[in-house]
Amino acid sequence: MSHKILVTGGLGYIGSHTCVALIEQGYEPLVIDNLSESDIEVKERIERITGRELLFEKVEMCDADALNKLFERHPDIAGVIHFAAFLLVNESVQNPLKYYENNLISTMNLLRCMDRFNVCPVVFSSSCTVYGNPDELPVGENAPIKEAESPYGNTKKMGEDILRDFSSICDVNVISLRYFNPIGAHETAHIGEFQDGEPHHLVPYITETAVGKREFLRVFGGDYDTRDGSCVRDYIHVMDIAEAHILAVQRLIDAKNEGSFEVYNLGSGDGSTVLEMINAFSTATGINISYEIVDRREGDVGAVYADITKAKNILGWTPKRSLETMLSSAWNFEESLK
Ligand code: WQD
Repeated sequence: MSHKILVTGGLGYIGSHTCVALIEQGYEPLVIDNLSESDIEVKERIERITGRELLFEKVEMCDADALNKLFERHPDIAGVIHFAAFLLVNESVQNPLKYYENNLISTMNLLRCMDRFNVCPVVFSSSCTVYGNPDELPVGENAPIKEAESPYGNTKKMGEDILRDFSSICDVNVISLRYFNPIGAHETAHIGEFQDGEPHHLVPYITETAVGKREFLRVFGGDYDTRDGSCVRDYIHVMDIAEAHILAVQRLIDAKNEGSFEVYNLGSGDGSTVLEMINAFSTATGINISYEIVDRREGDVGAVYADITKAKNILGWTPKRSLETMLSSAWNFEESLK
């Protein structure tokens, strides 16, 4: 029997790749998305990749009644993967209430419905941003949770707190997945990291520079205490991230979780500097990137990369895709948009 999995924000970057992985592994994703930050065209692209019709309903999760009606229509939801959230760090600084309202009310409405309809498993899309500027590297799940660097990061921290507290008093069980830096695209290049306007994240900015949409890449800071002065991050292929969600939701469906709230880091376990990423992109694609080292970007930490021992040993997850594959797939996706 194929489990029906509710995927909130399932037309977004990580959500869409997770839907492909779910279908490929025999699950039936039911996507809800309010289409505020995503495009309905992604539904057709997922269907093109998988050859299967994707269950989709346009739902505003901040509308409790609309969400309740969705659960009434689908009494066979076996678990939830909760991606739906606004995610731009700098936008959250400019418009904090938009982020607190959307990201937290949607989560609380979801939990009320799960409790009312006795849906217990939920996998939460969290972020390494909860670690702030870690004291030690690599950073493990028991590292202290730091003051958030942005309202976006705070909604991830508060989201985990809400989930932890609620799951301790009811039958909902949670796995929170703390992503490091998801990059790359599905091998078909039909889905990837769509960016409206000027990209915020590094890799879409690199690919847009490579394709000629941007004149050059600004490297934010060259004076950090790192190998070459540029920031270190832990880049991980979006499909490796997607596959971890299936291991997590199945762990909860099988009630193998220890306690009602588990946390796992999802990264490669390696750190790469920005300058190393520029060189790696050139190696992977043969394209040189024009760049200029400029001032640091506010809110950036110098270095962060993951200890993924727990995900390997308990979740049974190991990243499979190389940095070269991450970058060449990102480039293939960029080229597909031409
Ligand atoms: C990566 C590095 C920049 C753009 C964000 C979220 C985090 C997570 C991943 C969700 C940094 C440098 C970037 C550019 C640059 N999201 N950079 N020039 O900020 O590490 O993390 O995405 O799970 O929560 O905060 O990602 O791609 O913006 O930056 O030099 O034009 O590239 O300084 O060191 P970040 P990023």
